[in-house]
Amino acid sequence: MPGIVVVGMQFGDESKGAVVDYLSRDADLVVRYNGGANAGHTVATGDLRLKFRLMPSGALWGKRLVIGNGVVVDPKVLLDEIKALREVGVEPNLLLSRKAHVVMPYHKVIDAGKMAGSLGTTKRGIGPTYADKARRTDAIRVDDLVGPRFRERLESVLRFKLDELVAYGIVRREEDLPKYLEEVYGEYSEYGRELRPYAGEAYLEVNRALDEGKVVLFEGAQGTLLDLDHGTYPYVTSSNPVAGGACVGVGVGPTRIDRVIGVAKAYTTRVGAGPFPTEIHDELGDRIRERGGEYGTVTGRPRRCGWLDLPMLRYSIMINGITEIALRKLDVLGGTRPLKVAVAYEIDGEEREVMTPFVSDLERVRPVYEELDGWEELSPGEWGRVARRGYDALPRGARDYVEFIEERLGVPVTMVGVGPRREDTIERV
Ligand code: IMP
Repeated sequence: MPGIVVVGMQFGDESKGAVVDYLSRDADLVVRYNGGANAGHTVATGDLRLKFRLMPSGALWGKRLVIGNGVVVDPKVLLDEIKALREVGVEPNLLLSRKAHVVMPYHKVIDAGKMAGSLGTTKRGIGPTYADKARRTDAIRVDDLVGPRFRERLESVLRFKLDELVAYGIVRREEDLPKYLEEVYGEYSEYGRELRPYAGEAYLEVNRALDEGKVVLFEGAQGTLLDLDHGTYPYVTSSNPVAGGACVGVGVGPTRIDRVIGVAKAYTTRVGAGPFPTEIHDELGDRIRERGGEYGTVTGRPRRCGWLDLPMLRYSIMINGITEIALRKLDVLGGTRPLKVAVAYEIDGEEREVMTPFVSDLERVRPVYEELDGWEELSPGEWGRVARRGYDALPRGARDYVEFIEERLGVPVTMVGVGPRREDTIERV
């Protein structure tokens, strides 16, 4: 029975949270496999709008929620989300991988320094935490945080890190280390105590669930073009949002994945630095930003907006093995006429259909556009009525747009989003 991966096909913010939330109804487990509190999912239903950064998106359905080893966990953020759920009457049924790594206060200070400047990071300590994970000597895992030897581990890590701590002004000199240790230990040992009941062996539970034929949804954060290996390096995040990341970031074999659902917005956005071939630099870009509410969930930064990029989506289909597409935010493009779609890239006089992710190439590509008529602007209430009536109730131009994408990509668009609420997702049967 199915292991289903939900993956972002662009630069993140494709509204994967809404898709995962929608699919969670029929799932038994919802598992987050990468990233950290740099992600932001807004889940809306009726009047309730909750923002999660670490909690898997199925939280409001009361499902078993798993945070895998590929995630870097900011304990305070996670505890705040547990509290927020309790406030709306939901007791999170959460399992936190003991293999996951912990974002410590110094990671955030280091991230806010030179990394934020040159890469436009979210300053949530993501890159420095993954760097420590790879370095091994300086890392703290959930297993350390909730275990009996947290103090010894922290002390040893801080000694290893002394030069870095001094370089970033976190401590002034070696003699200040004991005081800093007490501060961090005081705060984080309490987090460890509160998180202990949730910590466990995520890989065991997820594999057993798959053995028993349960439905497991693997939720990726960020998007394919922000992947550390496959994105527009170095303008990427430090984890693997791609579908393969679900295997590594949870501990399941590739044969356990049955479906890979790619989520794409009906246009493209990017937050932070890095190449963006179809970016719109005039007031049309501002219109899409305002209508789509394109401001970062975590940082509030305005997102750069551009046309849909089919070479990018073809690249995503290839890298992730995408079997179907959920197209989101179609409502936002209502009234933008005509609509342009990049169907190929021209680079050094040659046309190519699949994106190149190399920054040096992307600086030279020229998108080749085709134009579609588009469709009229509808009010949120009208889109709500369209969603209730189903796919055939979409304006003709919107259906043409969906079918054009499907035909050019050769992958079915099985879900269409026309608003932020759970009820605004149309499934095509
Ligand atoms: P970091 O993940 O904070 O290290 O940031 C690296 C890059 O990824 C920056 O360009 C961020 O803006 C971008 N990024 C990280 N998380 C997200 C996300 O959830 N949505 C969109 N962009 C993101």
